[in-house]
Amino acid sequence: MDARSIIMAVRDGAGLAPEAAAWFARGLADGTVSDAQAGAFAMAVLCRGIGAAGRVALTEAMRDSGQVLAWDLPGPVLDKHSTGGIGDSVSLLLAPALAACGVYVPMISGRGLGHTGGTLDKMEVIPGYKALPGTAVLQKVVAEVGCAIVGATNEIAPADRRLYGIRDISGTVESIDLITASILSKKLAAGLGALVLDVKVGSGAFMVEMEDAKALAESLVRTANDAGCHASALITDMSQSLGHSAGNALEVLEVMETLTGSSVNEALWDVTAALGGELLCLAGKARSLDEGAEQIDAAIETGRAAEKFGQMVAALGGPFDFVERFPDRLPAAPVIVPVAAPRRGHVAQVDARALGEAVVRLGGGRLVATDRINPSVGLSGLAAIGEEVDPGEVLCLVHAPDAARAERAAAMVQAAYVISEEPPEEPPLIHGRIG
Ligand code: URA
Repeated sequence: MDARSIIMAVRDGAGLAPEAAAWFARGLADGTVSDAQAGAFAMAVLCRGIGAAGRVALTEAMRDSGQVLAWDLPGPVLDKHSTGGIGDSVSLLLAPALAACGVYVPMISGRGLGHTGGTLDKMEVIPGYKALPGTAVLQKVVAEVGCAIVGATNEIAPADRRLYGIRDISGTVESIDLITASILSKKLAAGLGALVLDVKVGSGAFMVEMEDAKALAESLVRTANDAGCHASALITDMSQSLGHSAGNALEVLEVMETLTGSSVNEALWDVTAALGGELLCLAGKARSLDEGAEQIDAAIETGRAAEKFGQMVAALGGPFDFVERFPDRLPAAPVIVPVAAPRRGHVAQVDARALGEAVVRLGGGRLVATDRINPSVGLSGLAAIGEEVDPGEVLCLVHAPDAARAERAAAMVQAAYVISEEPPEEPPLIHGRIG
């Protein structure tokens, strides 16, 4: 077998056989396949497609290009993947809530790039927290605590890491086949028994249109199931920030307030419970979605999820008293500026992507992968669609490193909000389910 004939077969619409996928993925990982060949392969897949069987073959081949974790635990091993959004800190609530329900969650997460935030960046706001502890520590913490939110090692799906870097510079990111194989190869390498996909739709999402979100959700669910991992997906709303805050430390603060009950964000909680309900059902730990969601509700309400969060933080190098002392442990920005509503009315529309970009410009996100981020900056108290505002009333607070950047971000936020006289229809939190 050779790269050229595999690329030509895909180019000519013949799909991708499992042996060819395995050869190509190995070649990506060990360097036998050149950058030019990888780019040509990605373009052939994008233009011709590889069909359902090809997606499974590529997913399994990229999963097997590196380490695949094996678990020997007294309960199911589960995880969630989100396609990313603004103010989406569901992972930080869901992992400990699931652990409190008696399941195991090796949550291998990524960093933020572009307008969406990244789970690892949020966890690293916690002083001392080691987000890259390696496989042995991940397995120990998952076994002892029930959950660990960490980054992938270089050994997880190395073929995907190489191909993703090449897709990024060759105009081939937007292929449902490649996106599916990329997301699932990493998740399935964690040795999961079940996976729930949170596919976001709306102005702040990777998939802005419902048709595209649905196609991706269907592809992810079908491919994961065909690769032997029980899966379902929720299509959730990203036409505005999910949380009231966007920015790393501000989102951790919001999560901790919700976990400890001092100030609950209902949207964040409800999406967490719905996704958790899906997983507990898939894993046979709940008889219905509602029963699963109730188990997650109970885990948060009783403080058991907060306790698990605290244990995870301590086990991964963070402070032992984080749950009790979180307001003192999080970095705060030196300048806080309110953004005023320009006129009386209702929040009718929000350009969520522009909010994410305001956070990036404040220094809270990355334009390129090597950028360092400022964890303390962002937006808090974001007004939601449907909220009534008076002129001058605060749409949100900008947390900035200096006055000049605060002013620029405030202008971006103001431009992102559309205020109407009539109350708008409020978007549902969950648009659909694929299972
Ligand atoms: N996230 C991934 O991990 N891969 C993609 O291709 C797109 C989003």
